[in-house]
Amino acid sequence: MGQPSHARKDQDWWRSAVIYQVYVRSFADGDGDGTGDLPGVRARLPYLARLGVDALWFNPWYLSPMRDGGYDVADYRAIDPAFGTLAEAEKLIAEATGLGIRTIIDIVPNHVSDQHPWFRAALAGGPERALFHFRPGRGRHGELPPNDWQSQFGGPAWTRVGDGDWYLHLFAPEQPDLNWAEPAVRREHEDILRFWFERGVAGVRIDSAALLAKDPRLPDFVEGRDPHPYVDRDELHAVYRAWRAIADEYGAVFVGEVWLPDTERFARYLRPDELHTAFNFSFMTCPWDAASLRTSIDETLAEHAPVGAPATWVLCNHDVTRTVTRYGRADTGFDFATKAFGTPTDLALGTRRARAAALLSLALPGAVYVYQGEELGLPEADIPVDRIQDPMYLRSGGTDPGRDGCRVPLPWAAEAPFAGFGSREEPWLPQPVGWTSYAVDRQQNAPDSMLTLYREAIRLRPAFGSAPLTWLPAPDGVLAFARAEGVTCVVNLADAPVDLPAHTRLLLGSGPLDTTGRLPKDTAVWLLA
Ligand code: GLC
Repeated sequence: MGQPSHARKDQDWWRSAVIYQVYVRSFADGDGDGTGDLPGVRARLPYLARLGVDALWFNPWYLSPMRDGGYDVADYRAIDPAFGTLAEAEKLIAEATGLGIRTIIDIVPNHVSDQHPWFRAALAGGPERALFHFRPGRGRHGELPPNDWQSQFGGPAWTRVGDGDWYLHLFAPEQPDLNWAEPAVRREHEDILRFWFERGVAGVRIDSAALLAKDPRLPDFVEGRDPHPYVDRDELHAVYRAWRAIADEYGAVFVGEVWLPDTERFARYLRPDELHTAFNFSFMTCPWDAASLRTSIDETLAEHAPVGAPATWVLCNHDVTRTVTRYGRADTGFDFATKAFGTPTDLALGTRRARAAALLSLALPGAVYVYQGEELGLPEADIPVDRIQDPMYLRSGGTDPGRDGCRVPLPWAAEAPFAGFGSREEPWLPQPVGWTSYAVDRQQNAPDSMLTLYREAIRLRPAFGSAPLTWLPAPDGVLAFARAEGVTCVVNLADAPVDLPAHTRLLLGSGPLDTTGRLPKDTAVWLLA
């Protein structure tokens, strides 16, 4: 009431935004030392504005020993010196805002770095121990971990310290879990949120959002027992309600990293007084198959509808196999458990599908995430094993390739050293042979490039408006839906070309139609009726 409609619309930007994920370490190197940084991002803001994105989500940029790519935070109020300074972050936020681009930061509440002052004080025997989960071990001499929980990166979720006690870490040993039953932990994070909202941050991505609360008895894990000792516990909702009240003071929004197979439990996080949005991992891990994708889309829309939250559409991020690679394999879904070295890949096929998937996801109702390099069609890189830094590889005993293959420094200029990433010396991860062919300067004026497709799709996407999705009749293996009056998206995942529905104009295609005007397989179009 009383607000002009454009102001209302502006407030609702996150409901239909295109959000670009910046993995700072690999985006652009401003000072030439081999690691991406904030000056690098600032210099490339015009590129992001031209791409047309509404917001940037930055992976953690805080002071960190980088034992898990910055998800091991030593100080939530300081920028890591490898990335820059707090003053530079403030400038970046302001400059982006000036270009109409909002900033979303990544908060890691489940754990801190083992170098965080609280954990150091805890190790020194201070009262800070209560802020973590320290327990005596089992066995005659306490030589066995307190329970049987496994780390998400492999091995026991417990590490023993000098005085014989063990502490819990659901991820790497350098990432001790906080005890969210402690009011001081809650107060600290509420204060961190305010710290960043005061600096103009428009949103927060919540890392491992469903893992914070633990059963205080820390019981052994029993398959199927409800509630789970540390996933999706009811106590969490009070935490996020308090966070929401703070975000509302600043008009800021949340996106939760919530991996939950149960759609009803997932939707609880999106109730009107909790998180605004959460990542859609069902869509991100879905195989390239019409029936599966349609089910994933329908379930996504159905689970969001009762709570009034918009869906999000994600094809990849810094944790999973890059889209063009995944879609070029026999198994086009994604599962951490089945990742392996040496999986045969048809990149031409994967790229064709990824182009179609881009048009599919950008036509769906809700917000869309684009992970840096996705708009360049970068494949997953094979990193020489002696250069891999990801704890997921290191802690798997060398069987899991880890996540570095999707974190390789971006190619900006084909002729420049290190493909124009900006480094004077070898970047922190090596760029594979052929990386230059994906360089921005090769793609920006090429009509058929992935970059041109993304730019065009983001430019034309408002044509779909905020209208809901209606499925149109289509042959098996074909996804066809209408959004706003007369704007439709058709994706052919069948084996043969198909006729297009009647239309007056082809707005955009992920590839050419065949000589008889039919839509080839693994191709998508946007049509005007
Ligand atoms: C999230 C992040 C991942 C990180 C983990 C631990 O899953 O996306 O990169 O390793 O949390 O913080």
